[in-house]
Amino acid sequence: MPTTQTAQTSALAPDQPPGENCILVIFGASGDLTKRLLIPALYNLACDGLLPEHFAIIGSAMSEWTTEEFRDRMTSGVKEFKTRKDFNQEVWDKLCARLYYTPGKFDDESAFKKLHDLVTQLDSKYHVGGNVLFYLATPPWAFGLISGNLDKAGFKTMPGWKRIIVEKPFGTDLPSAINLNKEILSYWKENQVYRVDHYLGKETVQNVLAFRFANGMYEPLWNKQHVDHIQFTVSEAVSVEDRGGYYDGAGVLRDMMQNHMFQMLAYLCMEAPSSFSADDIRDEKSKLLRAVRVYKPEDVPVNSVRGQYGAGKKANGKECPDYRQEKDVKPDSNTETFAVMRLFIDNWRWDGVPIYLRSGKALWARGTNAIVQFKKPPASLFKSKAVSKLFSNRLIFHIQPDEAIETLFQAKIPGPVMQMQPVNMRFNYGEAFLASRATGYEVMLYSCMLGDPTLFSRTDLVETAWRIAQPFLDYWSTHAAPEFPNYAAGTWGPRSAHELIERDGRSWFEIITRETLQKVPIFEKGNALFLSQISMALAPMAVAKGETIFTKGEVANDMYLIFRGEVEVLDGNGKVIATLREGECFGEIALLTSEPRSATIRAKSACNLFVLGRADFCRILRDHPHFAQVITEMAQERYQKWVSPDQLLDPTSNR
Ligand code: BG6
Repeated sequence: MPTTQTAQTSALAPDQPPGENCILVIFGASGDLTKRLLIPALYNLACDGLLPEHFAIIGSAMSEWTTEEFRDRMTSGVKEFKTRKDFNQEVWDKLCARLYYTPGKFDDESAFKKLHDLVTQLDSKYHVGGNVLFYLATPPWAFGLISGNLDKAGFKTMPGWKRIIVEKPFGTDLPSAINLNKEILSYWKENQVYRVDHYLGKETVQNVLAFRFANGMYEPLWNKQHVDHIQFTVSEAVSVEDRGGYYDGAGVLRDMMQNHMFQMLAYLCMEAPSSFSADDIRDEKSKLLRAVRVYKPEDVPVNSVRGQYGAGKKANGKECPDYRQEKDVKPDSNTETFAVMRLFIDNWRWDGVPIYLRSGKALWARGTNAIVQFKKPPASLFKSKAVSKLFSNRLIFHIQPDEAIETLFQAKIPGPVMQMQPVNMRFNYGEAFLASRATGYEVMLYSCMLGDPTLFSRTDLVETAWRIAQPFLDYWSTHAAPEFPNYAAGTWGPRSAHELIERDGRSWFEIITRETLQKVPIFEKGNALFLSQISMALAPMAVAKGETIFTKGEVANDMYLIFRGEVEVLDGNGKVIATLREGECFGEIALLTSEPRSATIRAKSACNLFVLGRADFCRILRDHPHFAQVITEMAQERYQKWVSPDQLLDPTSNR
């Protein structure tokens, strides 16, 4: 392809060489993946001059399309799913003219003969030297069938290289993965097979290796002496949507954890490779995954939680049905749409450090992150001071949609007294680099064209990952989950997910964005400083339906904010005097009056709450008079209504 440079560059460096000359054959080209991701990624590569000079694309699928039709469909696809702001018509026209289509079923040998003829013809036209890259955007059962028919059609005897890209799932459990690998490797050599895990195409995931091994700062701390625990979260706001047929046979463990999350885990925890060559990196990943403890089935319940969503309001405000009511899902499905795993890596570096993995669909927000939490410093040094508690330092890799690296540490609050507040330092990709948004598939396709397998999974990696997942699959398939559904769509997941980590004296870190806080009426008018202080100070808390959050007469230490769910306010006789809903807060009266709790609060439904401790509450009130006024007026009104209709609080008093 002509190397047209545009003002917008991709994350791939513009001084990179273009990929090797080849024909890219996409099987399953009428599917979503091609139009949404592959073609937009190829277009981005074309914009950056990274496609080979001698290049063509053939789409193949069952649909009886013509080349013209394929070009038209891909043209509308690329316009809809392009990741760059501007559209370069000239670049697209050139790429589009190289698109071809041939229909065919995977089991139709004559279709493969036709494909072979087309490849030969295009090889002479574009001079690609017989190099062919096959992209199997198909279900895994078709991998062997397609490979066999390619052989029969004579692709093996053509000159040039042949490579094959396959999409997950690579099996549905350990035995099926072993069989699938055997089948693929009976047609191809390991170095011809590129197994895509699109998480490894994400810049922020690749940067984990750069961060760890190109900087000396954290490496000395990256071990059991200094790290308390690690948590990975892949929270999806979307529900199963129209993928029930596939998803119900998979569940979150197969769909997200065994592949994407284990890959991130390997990057974050592996030893330094002896070089950045594909095999050195993959050897280290493999070693790391082999060191992850493989549980016995009886260890599964204490080291995991599974969940399935029930009806609720999704993060986008749309109603979501019970998972079991979704299209193509069994009405008695036991499939987990949420899971937590606690893993251990049995090696010198990580011995005894818990690794928590959490992922689910229909959760409160979309966000992927990896958090390394360091051990707390001894608080004894500050004993004589008014420091109520010290927080742990955290290093947060924000993978998506927020793309950043952040450290949380303590700072002294300005003033005559030694008091601490957690603060942050943050590196934002968008501020540091001028790179246009990409699909994540650019680097994958480009690497394949160059024959670089670094970002792809090897047979041993896939099987080792299944070995870790297998006991969970075995236990879950033989033990029904009578509690399903156990979380409402739009929440943080089941309460048990919090209990698992809280049993270890730890808690999940929920990332609270400014957008989240601005939805809360009392925070609405807050300025940037106010919102940043609040987000640093709030701690998440999940409560079950019916749980008492505090009781009248108790000593008060916190104020609460309802993020999801409803609570009831009860008087001393247990009579419900009010119901509070999402976006409302409670617990402020006792903090303002310095008196015991004036009412009891009970969760009417499962609730997700944010907690603001007394010290932070007082400090924020002092720093932000507007907030102080709003909260005092609200407390006054409530006090008058609920507690003592005759007594009015005087906001100017010092009580
Ligand atoms: C896919 C899963 O592999 O990853 C989907 O099959 C999931 O269920 C998707 O939604 C998430 O990818 P991303 O890049 O949006 O985090």
